[in-house]
Amino acid sequence: TEYSTILVETRGRVGWITLNRPDALNALNSTLATELGDAVAAFDADEEIGCIVLIGSERAFAAGADIKEMADKSVRDMTVANPFAGFAAVARARTPLVAAVSGYALGGGCELAMMCDVILAADNAKFGQPEINLGVIPGLGGTQRLTRAVGTYKAAELILTGRMMDADEAERAGLVSRIVPVSDLADEALKTAETIASKSLPVAYAAKDALQAALESGLAEGLRFESRTFASLFALDDQKEGMAAFREKRSPHFMGR
Ligand code: HXC
Repeated sequence: TEYSTILVETRGRVGWITLNRPDALNALNSTLATELGDAVAAFDADEEIGCIVLIGSERAFAAGADIKEMADKSVRDMTVANPFAGFAAVARARTPLVAAVSGYALGGGCELAMMCDVILAADNAKFGQPEINLGVIPGLGGTQRLTRAVGTYKAAELILTGRMMDADEAERAGLVSRIVPVSDLADEALKTAETIASKSLPVAYAAKDALQAALESGLAEGLRFESRTFASLFALDDQKEGMAAFREKRSPHFMGR
């Protein structure tokens, strides 16, 4: 498929998506939202893909929704004709997603990173929700996911002031899985994604489901969900294989079933 705002490649079992609007710091316009949603959905439907990486340029992961495209829109435009509907495919993907963030991850860019399971940050990364400076608030999950990631008071301060935080502060706050030197970001993202993709895909789905339950349910319900899901994995060949490999002191060879 030919896309105009993203580059899509397959690297072994890793689906690699580069946001590619360099003149606009990868601002997220409606075309990009649609193309990204389609590309993620296609990788998600492909059993040969075990992890998806989203990466931008060195200067910007994404500087937010495209303000120039958005400025004159109406309530109806933003709801019925929702230009960002494509992002739902990212949030609902069953395949693990790694965001590799270099430079700006602002507004919708920060929110897109937070739709991913792992956030790797280059040491030059800058995160923020500056929507308040534009007379709006975060609209792709910022008030919800940032609060869950960094806590009520950190999220409120960031969203109400619109200030940016650097990679160190973001890591201390819990928004970042790991910081790497900017020159190593793509390599580290690929290594992390290859590691994830080497596991059993149905088991990775189960892990994502249980992690999601931690965000959405109370403790008792989440623990019950985890325990049931854990037990169900004993129906898989991959559970037998993983444990046999341990006993036989060899690497497991997962079949994805
Ligand atoms: C459209 C953008 C853009 C954006 C940058 N550009 N961000 N265009 N939408 N979000 C464009 C600039 O207009 C400029 O193009 C080019 O990219 C380079 O940007 P500069 O501003 O010249 O670079 P710099 O001075 O280095 O400043 C970088 C920056 C600044 C601090 C990241 O660009 C900035 O503040 N951008 C906006 C960040 C923001 O407010 N994001 C939240 C958007 S609202 P031209 O051709 O003009 O020179 C949002 C809501 C999500 O995300 C929810 C939706 C439901």
